[in-house]
Amino acid sequence: MIFPFTEADAMRILSERLKPERLRHSVCVAECAQLLAGRYGYDEKIAKMTGLLHDICKNDNLDFQLQTIKNGGIMLTSIEKKSPPLYHAIAGAAYLKTVLQVEDADVLNAVRYHTTGRAGMSALEKIIFVADLASADRNYPDVETVRKLSGQSLEQAMLYVLEFLICDLIHRKKYLHPDSIAAYNELRSEMDADCYGGALCQR
Ligand SMILES: [Fe+2]
Ligand SMILES: [Fe+2]
Repeated sequence: MIFPFTEADAMRILSERLKPERLRHSVCVAECAQLLAGRYGYDEKIAKMTGLLHDICKNDNLDFQLQTIKNGGIMLTSIEKKSPPLYHAIAGAAYLKTVLQVEDADVLNAVRYHTTGRAGMSALEKIIFVADLASADRNYPDVETVRKLSGQSLEQAMLYVLEFLICDLIHRKKYLHPDSIAAYNELRSEMDADCYGGALCQR
């Protein structure tokens, strides 16, 4: 069993840990993840539960997030230490594993990498990454484009979002996580290979 608790249990745990607005976001991400799973042939129940739980540590203070990460035996890289907005994703994976006894590596990775992305993402990782940005509660200027792309291709939606996120981090003079760059490069080269039918590589 991937989740040793029910969806109702998850809702109860989340309602104790999250502020109402964050809980609403989590429910919207769960719904979006379920929808994307249906569209792309992934297990809807696992996607929905992972979406529900992806921000489980978001409202913990930073010290608590760091302690949760430590309890999970995870060492932060120097870039991660300098990027507090990433803590909650890493802490979320650690919390699911150490406190809620979720052992499934794919679920833990989907939570851990939902903010940065990474190269070689699984279907579930992509679904959660995209659902987090295409969910019904999101209202940033380009959200409709992301929603439209997410209906065509998870990879196209991810690439579009990563372009924005990377540029935005640079404009705000923040650090870039190497995993985000690796995800961008991988998706960009897949897109190029699609466009040229791989012809450039064969020359
Ligand atoms: Fe998050
Ligand atoms: Fe989120």
